[in-house]
Amino acid sequence: MTQRVYLIGFMGSGKSTLGRWLADTMEGWTFLDLDHFIENKFHKTIAQIFDEKGEQGFRQIEAMCLNEVSSFEKVIIGAGGGTPCFFDNMEVMNNSGLTIYLQLRPEVIYQRLQTSKTQRPLISGMQGIELLNFIKHKLSQREPYYLKAKLIADAENWKIVDFVKAIAKHS
Ligand code: S3P
Repeated sequence: MTQRVYLIGFMGSGKSTLGRWLADTMEGWTFLDLDHFIENKFHKTIAQIFDEKGEQGFRQIEAMCLNEVSSFEKVIIGAGGGTPCFFDNMEVMNNSGLTIYLQLRPEVIYQRLQTSKTQRPLISGMQGIELLNFIKHKLSQREPYYLKAKLIADAENWKIVDFVKAIAKHS
């Protein structure tokens, strides 16, 4: 049985919501949100880290924290939307657990981000067509990384039970 499940995918794809459900369902497992782990460790919000250190600084911290959590056990890790696309993060995740890409169409991501309360520096102040175009563009750049996941989930249609079954099968 694998010790780690990594949920990857674009901002707003439901990694945290799904991760919490899975941890509730899988006995002995906990959920860890990589962004929250970073915020707790540095006593700063992600937005503050972006402000103070820029995106590059944030990516270094993110990679360092990913390396740290990649030795934790029985944990479902919700990565940040950009995590798979920097340094050798995708290899770190694939080498230490089961990676699952939550695949969604840009239009669905757009709808979800419009109702999300989470502060996200990369899209702050964006709305309407500007946001939708940003999602389409960024997703096309990022999908080659996301598709390196061991499991591609149709996140628009999969139910929690489909994830649990797929995890059991791939472990
Ligand atoms: C980012 C996604 C965020 C967070 C940061 C950058 C990205 O995480 O790591 O704002 O580059 O897509 P979520 O995917 O959990 O929103």
